[in-house]
Amino acid sequence: MATADKVMAEVAEEAGRRRTFAVISHPDAGKSTLTEALALHSSAISSAGAVHGKGDRRGVTSDWMEMEQDRGISITSAALRIDYEGRVLNLLDTPGHADFSEDTYRVLSAVDCAIMLLDSAKGLEPQTLKLFDVCRARRMPVITFVNKWDRPGREPLELLDEIEQRIGLRPTPLNWPVGIAGDFRGLIDRATGRYTKMTRMPGGATKALEEVLAPEEAARVEGTEWERAREEVELLEALGADFDAESFLAGESSPVLFGAALPNFGVGQLLRAIVGLAPAPTAKTDAKGEPRPVAAPFSGQVFKMQANMDPSHRDRMAFLRISSGRFDRGMVLTHARTGRPFTTKYTQAVFGSERSTIETAFPGDVIALVNAQSIAVGDTLYDGPKVEFPAIPSFAPEHFVVARAKDAGKYKQFQKGIAQLDAEGVVQVLTSDVRGEQAPVLAAVGPLQFDVVEHRMEHEFRAPIEASPLDYSVARRTDAGSADALHALSGVEVLKRRNDGELLALVHNKWRLRVIERDHPGLLLEPLLAGG
Ligand code: G4P
Repeated sequence: MATADKVMAEVAEEAGRRRTFAVISHPDAGKSTLTEALALHSSAISSAGAVHGKGDRRGVTSDWMEMEQDRGISITSAALRIDYEGRVLNLLDTPGHADFSEDTYRVLSAVDCAIMLLDSAKGLEPQTLKLFDVCRARRMPVITFVNKWDRPGREPLELLDEIEQRIGLRPTPLNWPVGIAGDFRGLIDRATGRYTKMTRMPGGATKALEEVLAPEEAARVEGTEWERAREEVELLEALGADFDAESFLAGESSPVLFGAALPNFGVGQLLRAIVGLAPAPTAKTDAKGEPRPVAAPFSGQVFKMQANMDPSHRDRMAFLRISSGRFDRGMVLTHARTGRPFTTKYTQAVFGSERSTIETAFPGDVIALVNAQSIAVGDTLYDGPKVEFPAIPSFAPEHFVVARAKDAGKYKQFQKGIAQLDAEGVVQVLTSDVRGEQAPVLAAVGPLQFDVVEHRMEHEFRAPIEASPLDYSVARRTDAGSADALHALSGVEVLKRRNDGELLALVHNKWRLRVIERDHPGLLLEPLLAGG
C-alpha cells in the first residue's frame, strides 16, 4: 500500500511538472523557427537545427518516407521535449503546411494548451483560423505569440483588435513592444513594468542579448518610442486588458506576447508564460463521463498512427499521450477496444525526428508504441480496471477521390489496404450503393493524404490504385430522412462514412451549399468540426 501511495505521489508530482502544448499557425508564420528558438533555451538541445525544419535548416533527417524527404516537409507529428527550469515541456508537432491533414487536428486532442503563432504583418490567416476552431471546440487555453516583430508589420493595437473581432478571444497582452514592427527595440513586461532591451546577435538564431533597464534609463535610451509604448500600455490598463487566469483556462481570453523567433527576441518570455500559465495535465473525462485523475493507474489515448517509418521492418507505430499513471517500459497494457494485452517492451520516447528507448514516462508525455498493428487512432490503452476515452472526432474533409484497384486481380489486397488506412485514420472511407464497394470514395482534410494512400497501397499492400478526383469541396452531416431529397439535387451526393456510419452530403462548393440551404431549409446539412 505504502508503495502504491508513493507511486501516486510521484505521478502527481511529475504530472505537475509537465506542460504539453502545440503551436497552431499558418505556413510561414515561423513555426519551425520558433520551435528551434524554444529548443535553444532548453538544456536538451543546444544548437539550432537539431529539430526538424525546412530546407538546409533541417538538422535531423528522417528516413520515414521517401516522400517526406523529397518534399522536405514533415508529414509526421512527433513531439519535442524541452527541459526548462525544472519543468518538462512537450511540444507536439502540428504539420502546418498547405497540405495539412487530419493529423494536424488530432494532435490538438493530445495537448493541454496551444500557442497561436501570428505573423505580425499578416495577423490571423486561414489555417490558423481552422486550427483555432478546434481549440475553441475543446475550450482549450490559447497563448498568442505575435512573431516577426523585427520586420515591418501592423500596429499592435490593430492586431489585438483583429483577434477580438474575428475570433472573439479577448487578448490580454503580457508584454508590449517598444518600437514599431520593423524597428524592434525591446519589451515592457506589463506585470512588473520592467523593460528588456533586445540586441541582435550576429549569426542568427542564437539567444538574443537581453538587457533589463529601469524605466528612467529606458526613457533616455528609447526616447519617443518609449513614450509611445508607455501610452499604449496605459491604454491597455484603462481597457482592462489584463491577464485573467479563469477566462484563459476556459479558452475565452488569451495572453499575448510579442517577439521575433528568428533573432530569438521574446522567446524566453514565451517559455516563462508557458511554464507559468499553461495548465499541467489534469483528469481526462472517460467515455462514461467520469474524470480519470492523473494519479490513477496508467491510461492513455492514441492520437496518431505512423506506418512504415522503417520500410525494412514494416513497423507501425502508435503515438500515445499519457493521461494517467506511470509508464514503465515492458509493462503489459490492455487494449480497450479488443480487450487484448499489449506488451510495451520496445516502446520509445519521441524526440524531434529521433527516437530513443525510454524506461518511464508520466501524464502529458508522448510515447511511441511499436508493432501496433492492431491499434487505431483514438484507441485507449490502460493498466488495471478498464477505462476507455471517447473517440477523437473526425474532421470535415475538403478533398475527395474515387479509388479503384489498378489490377482487378488484387481486389483482396485492395480491400485490406483501404480498411487498414481507414482504421489508422489516414483518410476517411465513404461508400454508397450507387458507387459500390469496389470504388470507395476517400476523403481527406488535405490532399497530401492521397499521395500517402497511393504510396502505401502500392508499396505496402501491393495493390496500386487509381485515384480520380471528385469535384466536391464541402462535406455536411445529414440523415436518412434528407438523403433522398439531396440525391435528387445536382452538385450533391450522399455517402456513408465507414468508420462511424455517419451519412455525409458532399457538395461541389460552399456557394452551391448556400443555394441548397436557402431553397431547401428543411434538409439536414450540419457542419462537421473544423473547416466545415
Ligand atoms: P513555418 O514553419 O511556420 O512554415 O515557418 P518557418 O519557421 O519556416 O519560417 C518562415 C520564414 O519566416 C522563414 O524565412 C523564416 O526564416 C522566417 N522567420 C521566422 N520567424 C521570423 C522572425 O521572427 N523574423 C523574421 N524576420 N523572419 C522570420 P524563409 O526565407 O522563407 O526561409 P529560410 O530560407 O530562412 O529558412
